Amino acid sequence: MLEVQNLLVFYENALAVNDLSLSVEEGEVVGVFGSNSAGKTTLLNTIAGLTLHLQNRERRRGGMRITLGGRILFEGEPIEGLSPRARVERGVVLCRERHPVLKDNTVEENLRLGGYLRSRREVKQGLEEAYALFPPLLRLRRRKAGMLSGGEKEMVAIGTALMARPKLILMDEPLLGLSPLMQSEVVRGAREISKKGVTVLISEQYARPVMPIIDRGYVIENGSQVVAGTGKELLENPEVKSAYFGV
Ligand SMILES: Nc1ncnc2c1ncn2[C@@H]1O[C@H](COP(=O)(O)OP(=O)(O)OP(=O)(O)O)[C@@H](O)[C@H]1O
Ligand SMILES: [Mg+2]
Repeated sequence: MLEVQNLLVFYENALAVNDLSLSVEEGEVVGVFGSNSAGKTTLLNTIAGLTLHLQNRERRRGGMRITLGGRILFEGEPIEGLSPRARVERGVVLCRERHPVLKDNTVEENLRLGGYLRSRREVKQGLEEAYALFPPLLRLRRRKAGMLSGGEKEMVAIGTALMARPKLILMDEPLLGLSPLMQSEVVRGAREISKKGVTVLISEQYARPVMPIIDRGYVIENGSQVVAGTGKELLENPEVKSAYFGV
């Protein structure tokens, strides 16, 4: 479904993604693991088109130089030249890191915004699905999103991404800063999303909490792949185990 080939992202002087290749098959849940600055966000932002958008903006302003290389194929077609919106239209939807929500808007307004490319009927159905997936959101739907806890914000962020009806959802560190209880709620949500037929690419610093739901994973360091394999293979790799499983 998704094929990333020899991806390169160079921010002025920092090589954020270095000749990285990975693939995600339809129906899979695939993990990308790496420590701070490994390149996880850059990778997901580049797949979603945000890096290209930033590059174009910086060019117009005469600001930072960003160099992009490599190919990104989605359902067999190159998407690396498309705008973020065109990628959303094809079904590639990013849920950004650190629980992004519009603070002054209510939960439901945030969710509706995610469905901006969808019909009224699809938005209605999407809202019902988001509330079924994360029941606390129904109770909180008129609350300003800025008032919510980190875990609740993450539910809103994921719900908002789902409103766009993704075929592939890119989740950037959805567990960041959440309590173990909230982490398991979000992991449960990701599993439900996958069961509904959405393919999932999920980044995290640590592999352990998402281990029960991933089919395969990639470990990246300094923008390059160091190991790839099934969950079991990653667990059996001593280096990966000590660095990304916290044992
Ligand atoms: N907009 C930017 N401008 C310049 N350099 C950037 C930019 N975004 C990221 N970088 C650099 O690219 C590298 C990869 O950063 P990235 O945010 O992709 O890592 P990450 O794996 O998501 O880290 P974290 O776990 O902290 O979220 C870092 O060295 C970072 O400083
Ligand atoms: Mg990041």
